[in-house]
Amino acid sequence: MNALSVNNIEVIYDHVILVLKGVSLQVPQGSIVALLGANGAGKSTTLKTISTLLRGERGDVTKGEVRFLGERVDQLTPNELVQRGLAQVMEGRHCFGHLTIEENLLTGAYTRKLSRAQLRDELDRVYRYFPRLKERRNSQAGYTSGGEQQMCAIGRALMAKPSMILLDEPSMGIAPQIVDEIFGIVKDLNANEGVSFLLAEQNTMVALRYADFGYILENGRVVMEGAAHELAANEDVKEFYLGVAGGGRRSFREQKFYRRRKRWLS
Ligand SMILES: Nc1ncnc2c1ncn2[C@@H]1O[C@H](COP(=O)(O)OP(=O)(O)O)[C@@H](O)[C@H]1O
Ligand SMILES: [Mg+2]
Repeated sequence: MNALSVNNIEVIYDHVILVLKGVSLQVPQGSIVALLGANGAGKSTTLKTISTLLRGERGDVTKGEVRFLGERVDQLTPNELVQRGLAQVMEGRHCFGHLTIEENLLTGAYTRKLSRAQLRDELDRVYRYFPRLKERRNSQAGYTSGGEQQMCAIGRALMAKPSMILLDEPSMGIAPQIVDEIFGIVKDLNANEGVSFLLAEQNTMVALRYADFGYILENGRVVMEGAAHELAANEDVKEFYLGVAGGGRRSFREQKFYRRRKRWLS
């Protein structure tokens, strides 16, 4: 059973700019799937299409459909999606800087009608995964580190008790050891609570270490997909993402054509 199924979606911004050109992807229930690709590839647009936040950005889905747990959800509001168990953590963290960490977490439970005792239990659950947030619970979020703000954003999403989280560039602007700490927690949440994840990342090799499956997006198209360990070991992926010496980075597709051409010529 797929938690999420995105079928052939096409997205246009401002009525003219075609950004997603028929993207399809699946997230099996209980898995971690990475959506990879360079800056501008269309990762955030894909996530916002799924969470229906795109409408706020003059983006239109002109083709395709999105299903969550089998149900067609592309006409729902973001709140209705959260109530069904699909939460999104936007790129760039988005905590309320003037609220404390704990107040931020509490805002994540607003779609649920919980007693004070239940809220306490939910906070404790989040603090078990994020001990750093417990230490910092009375600090104003705006004065905490980038890593702590990212944890706060994920913790807030958890307060809605989602069965699936869309996570946009959790590693952005964060020190490498904290990135590993955050991905480790994602893995724990997945293993212990069965939360499924679709995570968008430019940081390909780190994401593939934690994901089960990956899709590589380029210019609004999926150009490659496979099991994470296979993608991580793939020569084209390694050559492309670990950087070719000099000459800058070619397009992934271009490089494949180039390699094929080389093979024909030799
Ligand atoms: N609100 C918007 N209006 C117009 N173009 C946009 C908007 N958001 C993103 N884009 C364009 O869509 C393309 C994909 O962007 P995005 O989905 O943010 O990529 P990624 O998350 O992979 O970096 C880029 O060319 C970007 O400039
Ligand atoms: Mg993005």
